[in-house]
Amino acid sequence: MNYRHHYHAGNYADVFKHALLLSLIGGMQRKEKGFLYLDTHAGRGGYDLTTSGVLPDGRERAPEWPAGIGRLWEAAQLPAELAPLLQASKAFNLRKTGDDAEIRVYPGSPWVARCALRPQDRAVLCELREDDAEALDFEIGGQPGVKVCAMDGYTGLKAFLPPPEKRALVLIDPPFESATEFADIVDAMAAAQRRFPSGTYAIWYPITERARCDNFIAALASAQAAPPMLCAELQIASEASQVRMKGCGLLVLNPPWRIDEEFRAILPPLAALLKQDAGGAARVSWPVPER
Ligand SMILES: C[S@@+](CC[C@H](N)C(=O)[O-])C[C@H]1O[C@@H](n2cnc3c(N)ncnc32)[C@H](O)[C@@H]1O
Repeated sequence: MNYRHHYHAGNYADVFKHALLLSLIGGMQRKEKGFLYLDTHAGRGGYDLTTSGVLPDGRERAPEWPAGIGRLWEAAQLPAELAPLLQASKAFNLRKTGDDAEIRVYPGSPWVARCALRPQDRAVLCELREDDAEALDFEIGGQPGVKVCAMDGYTGLKAFLPPPEKRALVLIDPPFESATEFADIVDAMAAAQRRFPSGTYAIWYPITERARCDNFIAALASAQAAPPMLCAELQIASEASQVRMKGCGLLVLNPPWRIDEEFRAILPPLAALLKQDAGGAARVSWPVPER
């Protein structure tokens, strides 16, 4: 496992994912009853942006966060839909550095989610790398209602679902290092659907090859008894661009009611802010419509 999120923390994909995650949590919280937030690939919980451009061998490269969360910090007038993520990012800087005037750190999904959870909600956070799980435990582990597990996230789906609350929001955010990751998710979703069909599952994916994404979406949509499935995508560069990952998406199985309307409000200003060329765009669709 070579992937280290540290080098990508706060990039456009994190901003997209975390802005939609906060919207999904808000959607889950329209009901008073508590729910489980299960983060299958949780990461370290927080990242030092001042070193994210330095590779392990000491070489330097351009950090990714200035074209992501950096643009939200710098926006003269940030659209209201993006304010919750900026607030979470500022709160994390204040907590870690005692200052929120300048951006130096960026929170991971567990911390972003934890900020929004209520006392009746719970978080289970799985991370396979021992060192990252330890860092995550240090960052957030001692908090009430939070459990950090150094384990495989796909095993976590079997271990923690269905939850006693009978309500869950699951974030699946793998590194896509493995050639079988898309297929692994399709298999994991088939098993998770059997164990806990009413759960809300949010799956992040990179857009490097359009056909591979379309096949992935089609495989999930054509599964037996596929639940309603919402797809949000952000493209930051045109097909002709040299950028390898031209965009990313979030598939949401069993999305909270009318969350598509919120996604449609969040994504256009996000695309306008994060685009790297004229090909920047966003779209929301229903590969499996609500019945
Ligand atoms: C994209 S990063 C997660 C970022 C995090 N969700 C966030 O938004 O801040 C993927 C993480 O998954 C971890 N990982 C890789 N394979 C895993 C597995 N099978 N189970 C759990 N974690 C895994 C990696 O070590 C890495 O920290």
